[in-house]
Amino acid sequence: MKATINRITLAYDDQGKGIPLVFLHAFPLNRRMWDPQTAALSGRFRVITVDLRGHGESDSPLWHYSLDQAAEDVVGLLDHLSIEKAVFVGLSMGGYVCFSLYRSHAARVLALVLADTRAGADTDEGRIGRFEMAQTAYRRGAAAIADVMIPKLLTPRTVQTKPDLVQLVRAMIQGNQISGIAGDLMAMAERPDSLPILPAIACPTLVLVGQEDVATPPSEARLMAGQIPGARVELIPEAGHLSNLERPDLFNRMVEEFAAGLGDS
Ligand code: MLT
Repeated sequence: MKATINRITLAYDDQGKGIPLVFLHAFPLNRRMWDPQTAALSGRFRVITVDLRGHGESDSPLWHYSLDQAAEDVVGLLDHLSIEKAVFVGLSMGGYVCFSLYRSHAARVLALVLADTRAGADTDEGRIGRFEMAQTAYRRGAAAIADVMIPKLLTPRTVQTKPDLVQLVRAMIQGNQISGIAGDLMAMAERPDSLPILPAIACPTLVLVGQEDVATPPSEARLMAGQIPGARVELIPEAGHLSNLERPDLFNRMVEEFAAGLGDS
């Protein structure tokens, strides 16, 4: 489905009934990364997945990229769907969008699942890396970004043994426009430090992380969970950064148990 939000077209899917679960994808993927979650959870919950601006079937304008802008797009979509409050499940960059959402629209957040993400801002070295990756995208295209990103997103075991999954991730990355890739990289480089807001997060929060995640390791997950009142952290074995795709069985079960425990509030 498509909607015009903040003067651009956003693509999304909306399946099932019950507590709304809004899934926010990683960089540089799209809403298709949540297909195993939609299949497993839409029988019990209202599952909404969205291609953030710059990704998949949504528009990739030349400018206006920030994580706050992505959060405004998500709120615009909630308004379009007449959803007052939702559980937000954000993986990596999707988690950064969750922090922006909580900062500006805490009243819309029923609960948070922060998966394979971090609360801190980029280091100076990290920002330089973003700029270099944007240059790579500009000069050599999205295929070169897939070559760089796949070893960061998936465990070596997945890369060796699950060619279909690797191909799926590659296709999602290569489907992006360069404007979207560069826009995201700037947005992530400029995102604020969210560590100071963690103690103020008052909604139920679950922190998930692949045990073998090297991009946002379990130490980052424990740091977040330690600062958010009442938050719980769960490690997902045999998974790297894309824990929802590498261990959908465990990821889905943890999200389902968490969301079911929220009742109908
Ligand atoms: C992601 O998976 O969204 C990215 O690894 C996030 C990042 O580069 O900080």
